[in-house]
Parts: sequence; C-alpha cells; structure tokens
Amino acid sequence: MSIPPALRGATIAGVGMYVPERILTNAELARMVDTSDEWIVERTGIHERHIAAPEQATSDLAAPAALEALKVAGQSPESVDLIIVATSTGDTNGYPATAAYVQEKIGAKNAAAFDVSAVCSGFTYALDVALQYVASRRYDTVLVIGAETNSRFVDWTDRTTCILFGDGAGAVVVRPTEYGEGILGSILGADGSGTDLLKVPAGGSRLPLTAELIAAHQNTIYQNGKAVYRFAVDKMGVAAMEAVEFVGLTAEDVDLLIPHQANIRIIQSAAKHMGMPMEKVVSNLDRYGNTSGATIPIALYEAWKSGRVKPGNIIVTVGFGAGLSWGANVIKWGTLPV
Ligand code: UT7
Repeated sequence: MSIPPALRGATIAGVGMYVPERILTNAELARMVDTSDEWIVERTGIHERHIAAPEQATSDLAAPAALEALKVAGQSPESVDLIIVATSTGDTNGYPATAAYVQEKIGAKNAAAFDVSAVCSGFTYALDVALQYVASRRYDTVLVIGAETNSRFVDWTDRTTCILFGDGAGAVVVRPTEYGEGILGSILGADGSGTDLLKVPAGGSRLPLTAELIAAHQNTIYQNGKAVYRFAVDKMGVAAMEAVEFVGLTAEDVDLLIPHQANIRIIQSAAKHMGMPMEKVVSNLDRYGNTSGATIPIALYEAWKSGRVKPGNIIVTVGFGAGLSWGANVIKWGTLPV
C-alpha cells in the first residue's frame, strides 16, 4: 500500500471578469414596471446592472473571464486540469454542463468539466471543491468560474424581483502553494426546508414546461423577498465568522470581506455582526446588481485590480442564496501582480 501524499496548499493564482456591455439603469426599469430609482436605491443599493446581448449565453460570459484569469496566472488553456462553473442559469437546462461549453470555447482540451449548482453560494462551494482537488494533489490547475445570465430567468413584469438581478462572470485559477498559504479553509451549509423561498418553479423534472406554466410565469425567478432577507441577515455574518474561526483566526485578522452582492442592507448587517468597518468591505452591487454566483469573483477581481488586496491579506468571502444555501472561504492572498 502506498503512503498517501501529504496535503499541500492551494492559492488563487489568477483572476478575471467579464460583464456584457449593455447597462440597464433604474430609470429604464421605472419605465418598464411600477418602480422608481429612489425605491430601488434605498431598499437595495443597486443603481444599474449589465444585461447579456441576445446572442450571449452564460458560457459566452464565462469564457472571457476565464481567459483573463489564465493570462494573469501565466497558464495556458491546455494546462487546465479541471473547470468548475458555478451557475444556476446555464446555457441549457442542465444538459450538458456549462463548463463543457467553456472548455470548448477556451480550448482547455485536457480539462475535466462540471458545474456546481448552489445558486448565489455557488462560487464559495466551487472554490472549496477546487481547494480539495489541489490540496490532495489530484489536480494542479483548476479554473473556478461564477457565471450567470439571470436576465433570461427574470420575470420582467415582476417589480419585486426584476430590479435585483444582473448578468456577468468572474473567474479564478487555483494552483498549488505551500501548506498554510492561499485558501485556508471554507465552511459550507444548506437548509433544504427553505427550497420554496427562492426558485424557478417550472422547467425541471418536478414541473416540466407546458404552455400554461409559461403563461403563468412559472419558468422565471420566484422569491419570498422578506423571508430570504431575514435568512440572509441572520446567516451571512454568522457564516463568515464560522469560517474565520474554523481556520483559527479572529475577526480582527480579517483585512477584507467580500460578501455576496444582493442588498447593501444585508451586507451592512454582516459587517456589523463581524464588527468590521465598511472600509474593509467590498461592495459593487450599485453597478452590477445581483449576479448570483458571479458576484463574489467579480468583487474579488475589482478589489485586486484596484489595489485593495495586498500580499498576505486575509480575505473572507461569504455567500448565501437559494437552497437555502450558504458558504464562506478564508483566503490568505499571495503575490499576484496587478
Ligand atoms: O441572492 C438572492 C438572495 N435574495 C436576496 O438577497 C433578496 C432579499 N430580500 C431583499 O433584498 C428585499 O426583501 C427586497 C429588496 C426584495 C424588498 O425590500 P423590502 O424592504 O423587503 O420591501 P418589501 O418586500 O417589504 O416591500 C415594501 C413595499 C411593498 O408595498 P406595500 O405592500 O408596503 O404597499 C411592495 O409591494 O414596496 C413594494 N415594492 C416596490 N415598490 C417599488 C416591492 N418592490 C418594489 C419596487 N418598486 N421594485
């Protein structure tokens, strides 16, 4: 029997992002449904969001983000061992994985490819999966992408949800490092008793699509906003702290919190729970809205690009969403030139 290889660390070696060109402002939305810029900004913090062009599917957003992350990492597409796409708005209804489309688009012909479906927590789940593969020495180069085309699943007549969502993609390359460096650990969680609170009811095996269901808008996002809000406020800060404590750190050790971008009030409550000033919290939902599984890698990319992330910084990502699900990763940032 061979001796199992020792664990090693896994670090973020490259980051990338892509958002479609078209910007949908609150003022435009106010001409589509009974809402106002004032209401949207006050209740959510969102000013505008990006919307995919008609010919763009989720893999079309994911591929340029992935290529940028590989370029930053100095890795070729051929060197990628595994592609994980965190998405709940894939190119198709699950057949095949969106990661397979990305593999073809970027020419990562040696990579295995699958999707992770944990909705807005998806990136935190996928990053943890990548950590396990790299730490166990199974793979050396894992591409983790959060990518969504929410605009295709939004009910554009429902003012309670259509104002929230946007499209976009963020990607990271996970590579080996010394043990104790890089992604230090994660916590993941789910509460399936909340499946009805946020979902696309029809189009799966439970409720296959019919003309009646489409007419009743059952193929679009339904949300009990108040219940999800309560869950998020209760869970986000707690989950982030659980991850921090899991890796043996305290809130004072955290340099930057990168939370899922759903609502500025939820982000503020998580920061308050952790005792973190808003200067240490990344928020860009004013420009992108809620891009579900893509919010965290997009926010991470922007924090890195703007020089907010320094070598050795402790970064905590935390997501929550449909499932209900939640997850958080603690990352000790390496040296990644901007
Ligand atoms: O990543 C996915 C996770 N999802 C979330 O994080 C969403 C969590 N929930 C939320 O962020 C908030 O609940 C919302 C932003 C969705 C709603 O904010 P709220 O402060 O909870 O508003 P509300 O649902 O209590 O609605 C207050 C009022 C209602 O009118 P009445 O019943 O008081 O007359 C709504 O009908 O605001 C009305 N309303 C709107 N008014 C103008 C709801 N949506 C709109 C709108 N424009 N877009």
